[in-house]
Amino acid sequence: MSSDRFDLIAGALPGRTEDSKHMREALALARRGWGQVSPNPLVGAVVAHGDVVVGRGWHSRFGDDHAEIVALKEAGSQARGSTLYLTLEPCNHDGKTAPCTETILKTGVRRVVLACRDPNREAGGGAEVLLERGIQVEVGLEAPEARRLNAEFLWFHLTNIPFASLKLALSLDAKLGAPSTRTPVTGERALEAAHRLRASHDAIIVGRNTIETDDPLLTARGDISPRRPPVRIILDTEFRMKVDTELIRTIEEAPVWVIGADDLDRREDPARELRAVGVRVLEVPRGQDGLLSMDHIWKELTSRQILSVLIEGGGRVASSVIRAGLVQRMYAFVAPVFFGESGVPAFPDVPPSKMEDWQPVERNPLGPDTRIVLDHRSLHETLLQV
Ligand SMILES: NC(=O)c1ccc[n+]([C@@H]2O[C@H](COP(=O)([O-])OP(=O)(O)OC[C@H]3O[C@@H](n4cnc5c(N)ncnc54)[C@H](OP(=O)(O)O)[C@@H]3O)[C@@H](O)[C@H]2O)c1
Repeated sequence: MSSDRFDLIAGALPGRTEDSKHMREALALARRGWGQVSPNPLVGAVVAHGDVVVGRGWHSRFGDDHAEIVALKEAGSQARGSTLYLTLEPCNHDGKTAPCTETILKTGVRRVVLACRDPNREAGGGAEVLLERGIQVEVGLEAPEARRLNAEFLWFHLTNIPFASLKLALSLDAKLGAPSTRTPVTGERALEAAHRLRASHDAIIVGRNTIETDDPLLTARGDISPRRPPVRIILDTEFRMKVDTELIRTIEEAPVWVIGADDLDRREDPARELRAVGVRVLEVPRGQDGLLSMDHIWKELTSRQILSVLIEGGGRVASSVIRAGLVQRMYAFVAPVFFGESGVPAFPDVPPSKMEDWQPVERNPLGPDTRIVLDHRSLHETLLQV
């Protein structure tokens, strides 16, 4: 994605502290769209003359003005001769809104500093257009942070594979809870963080055992209500899930999809009851282990425009997605407890990994618990393209 034609900035260079300050503000503004913009990215913008900011904006909701348009409107005539700091390349196509490149050109902005390029084939190419029309364009300021912020969006458009985050609450001995019973593992603050994660993903996946043991709601009930509630997806090979569950009782609040095997006896129609209560039923082939093929599930998700998935367990599903090499980011909420030998293992069947496979990118104390965020090497390498 990067081009020799732009000035490429490798992080904050000496003498560029003012630029970095504005870009960091734009990144903070971008976060205000959390949960509201998918399938678009989170974007923030700052318009400035030197140290003086004359316009600020962010993409607040899918379908609304893009960040740069909001910031340029605020700047008004002061946009002339200014520098526009943008966390993502401006769009160059007629979508829900007019091409942002056209507005930038009309307002007389002199210089555009971008944190990273937009790999979306439909919308990208804005940097070239601006450059050809005489605007100074620089790419790469605060790029690592900008890539992390929109990892889901960037990954999907670079690979055409849904971004998968694996989130687990686990004990010090890597157990998910006591056997056969719903076990609270982490405290309030970890729960709040988990609800925020739900708000930023298009779908949530769990295995059938988790539904049977926990009877969870799987809705985003934190301080942020997502624009589109994430689809709740259950892996249930033989369609044995009961309809007398919290998921079905709340089906009006968020869709429920159940995925089962495509080789069941159709005369019996085992998914009949689920369909009758409004569940969307999908069928995929089994893998060699007799469970549902993760690769086929991911193909189904891609074809249904699911850009990002939060896998919430249990351990068998977590192991399957790791084995299939589908997890890009892991959120481990570690509680200071042991569940002992009888506890449900978090990773009952994963192959050994190398130290360099998973990079810790964040560690936060959340009350008594600790959140560790790890990015897979393949994510890091892929995002370097923008
Ligand atoms: N602490 C946490 O963060 C957390 C989160 C979730 C769950 N839990 C706990 O974890 C326990 C359940 O975990 P679990 O490991 O026993 O089961 P699970 O991962 O919830 O469900 C596994 C089941 O899903 C179905 N499945 C279908 N395709 C699959 C595939 N490709 N890979 C894996 N599973 C597939 C299979 O059931 P069928 O053959 O019937 O289709 C399989 O037995 C519960 O005790 C729950 O309380 C804890």
